[in-house]
Amino acid sequence: MKVTVVGAGAVGASCAEYIAIKDFASEVVLLDIKEGYAEGKAMDLMQTASLNGFDTKIVGSTNDYAKTAGSDVCVITSGIPRKPGMTREELIGINAGIVKTVSSSLIQHSPDTIIIVVSNPMDTMTYLVHQTTNIPKNRIIGMGGALDSARFKYRLAEALGCPISDVDGMVIGGHSDKGMVPLIDKATRNGVPVSEFIDDAKKDYVVQETKVGGATLTGLLGTSAWYAPGAAVSGLVQAIACDQKKMFPCSVLLDGEYGLNDLCIGVPVILGKNGIEKIVEISLTDAEKAKMQESAEGVKATNGLLS
Ligand code: 2OP
Repeated sequence: MKVTVVGAGAVGASCAEYIAIKDFASEVVLLDIKEGYAEGKAMDLMQTASLNGFDTKIVGSTNDYAKTAGSDVCVITSGIPRKPGMTREELIGINAGIVKTVSSSLIQHSPDTIIIVVSNPMDTMTYLVHQTTNIPKNRIIGMGGALDSARFKYRLAEALGCPISDVDGMVIGGHSDKGMVPLIDKATRNGVPVSEFIDDAKKDYVVQETKVGGATLTGLLGTSAWYAPGAAVSGLVQAIACDQKKMFPCSVLLDGEYGLNDLCIGVPVILGKNGIEKIVEISLTDAEKAKMQESAEGVKATNGLLS
């Protein structure tokens, strides 16, 4: 399994690091436009191999896509990150041009690849890859829901005062502060609905803090987060590499599922060797459906800024 990660910034380097540490890939190519930067990060990471016990080979490349040839999975993290106070949507102008160029260069060298889009605004960037390439829809995946769900579980465990491994939950909808739909009424602690443990005020707090999870970190760090995004990407890549048939919420092109069409938005999918093996349609309450509809309208409005 060969994986390419485009963008050797904090998110891209974290993706490469977590993928390498999990030791399921033979090679990770880290590519960046900044001269020598990806080579430096790759060398630094390779020098952790004997310490962390992995055999994945990490190769750096300054914009030489020939080195990415034959990649099974390509992850696009390139583009500008958020600064404090910015929304993900505000990045569209610069990032759309970058994502378009990067995806076409990747496909030129790896026509059979599966693409994972991380660049923001992620749902719209994923839609752009569908619009500007001719690869089938099962091979284009937006990473947002896996990260948002991890942040949801962090907040759930905090509110319940329990270990994170006790809680389970999922966030669907757009990967934006307003568009996320944390499925709080489906969240559980060891199979028991969380409403058995926390009141409505605490549930609202969890939902709100989950939705602004990325913005909270951007405020603290001065730029967007990288550890959890990198770990979330590595989970998706591993599910594909190891044909795990694992369920994650991912941004995928919908064609009638959830009553939505012609947009990419977060819904549960099964990931395996073919990328998106299946879109899972779970039953939503009327309130959840209304939130999903509102989220879709927001994503469509951002998609409208593409042309
Ligand atoms: C985040 O939420 C990178 O969009 C990403 O941190």
